[in-house]
Amino acid sequence: MTDGRAVEDLVVGVLGGTGPQGRGLAVRLAASGQRILLGSRDADRAAEVATEVAGRALPAAGTAEVWVQGGSNVDVAGAADLVIVAVPYAGHAATLADLASPLAGKVVVDCVVPMGFDELGAYALDVPEGSVTQQAAALLPDSFVVGAFHHLSAVLLEDLSKPTLDGDVMVVGDDRAATDTVQALAGRLPGMRGIYSGRLRNARQVEALTINLVSVNRRYKVHAGIRITDV
Ligand SMILES: NC(=O)c1ccc[n+]([C@@H]2O[C@H](COP(=O)([O-])OP(=O)(O)OC[C@H]3O[C@@H](n4cnc5c(N)ncnc54)[C@H](OP(=O)(O)O)[C@@H]3O)[C@@H](O)[C@H]2O)c1
Repeated sequence: MTDGRAVEDLVVGVLGGTGPQGRGLAVRLAASGQRILLGSRDADRAAEVATEVAGRALPAAGTAEVWVQGGSNVDVAGAADLVIVAVPYAGHAATLADLASPLAGKVVVDCVVPMGFDELGAYALDVPEGSVTQQAAALLPDSFVVGAFHHLSAVLLEDLSKPTLDGDVMVVGDDRAATDTVQALAGRLPGMRGIYSGRLRNARQVEALTINLVSVNRRYKVHAGIRITDV
């Protein structure tokens, strides 16, 4: 899985890394010294965004080295040690269906929220497998699939004028070593903790809670996150 390497030594890939959520995770992790491979359906776009992300992470990095490169999603899936999935739900199954082989044996972190909007606001979409994370696990039988990073606002992740984030990352998964690794990765985000929050069968509530946060954001004009108390 990670061959016993510490999380800071892992190259983290981000599929769909050109969007706000992928860029936001990339810029914060890169500023913490994590090596990042940004993925896209278009390798040239990934390279452009990777240069931009590295440029933004550099002033925040302090003594840490900044290393961000771009590539196609398939190349990133093959080259990274751990991979975050940050594509829209509409493209989730099709993206992962092609990547089972390059992602085999790796920790795959899914932050995709199955969300629709109508005249009443945001609502949760039904996912046949029960949750998006379980869909990923079904498509990637040889990977260690974990759900995490759903409750982080891309706006706050990308806003490096705020050096510290404030919140917790709920981490769900069936493999203890994989969830431990993702909790440690979450802890690389300044001010954040990764909190184990149950098995994959409990991913649905974690994903859907994001939709309540979107409703909070719309009412109060904020970028809400969550904090788990007494841990
Ligand atoms: N934004 C947030 O605050 C936030 C918070 C928590 C969770 N999330 C979740 O994180 C994921 C990414 O969010 P986002 O706001 O960054 O989304 P996004 O901008 O809509 O999409 C991210 C990237 O995915 C790629 N993409 C777009 N459509 C695709 C498709 N049909 N198939 C494969 N790739 C596609 C695009 O990259 P290329 O065109 O370069 O391939 C795009 O830049 C979503 O699933 C969302 O639910 C977002």
